[in-house]
Amino acid sequence: MKQFIFDTPEQTKELGQRIAQGLTAGDVLVLNGDLGAGKTTFTKGLATGLGITDVIKSPTFTIIREYQGGRLPLYHMDVYRLENGGAADLGLDEYFEGDGVSVVEWAQFAEDELPDDYLALTFKRTGQDNQRQIEVVPKGGHFVALMEEL
Ligand SMILES: Nc1ncnc2c1ncn2[C@@H]1O[C@H](COP(=O)(O)OP(=O)(O)O)[C@@H](O)[C@H]1O
Ligand SMILES: [Mg+2]
Repeated sequence: MKQFIFDTPEQTKELGQRIAQGLTAGDVLVLNGDLGAGKTTFTKGLATGLGITDVIKSPTFTIIREYQGGRLPLYHMDVYRLENGGAADLGLDEYFEGDGVSVVEWAQFAEDELPDDYLALTFKRTGQDNQRQIEVVPKGGHFVALMEEL
């Protein structure tokens, strides 16, 4: 486990950019934390790190947005609106096993659908205005090496 404390959105994006460097096709990142904690901000940095130039918008109402044009495709999912179930019908495994990188916001609402290996990030406000705490935990063996690079 690694823990980071950041004072600006730029720092959170920079972590996303750094993590992007080590990602390969089929990698899955799950992001948990309250509304406004910084999950989408992190994903913007990740997209930049993959070389995606499109503006990343929160996929809350669309559930899944796909971005091409980078080193790998990015599948950005926000399953918040599936709070009462429904994640099983989305066919998330098609994305997880695909040729891109999948990022799932509010992953606790899709817990049963998650693969064996994923990188789990938990975002928290610390109480100070713009400060955020981000915990990074590798689930399964696949992300252990990437973690050491962080
Ligand atoms: N240190 C920080 N890291 C990330 N976001 C921050 C930080 N400080 C302030 N913010 C702001 O908090 C908001 C986070 O929103 P967002 O990333 O959409 O959160 P979430 O996707 O978790 O709901 C943004 O407006 C962002 O600019
Ligand atoms: Mg979000």
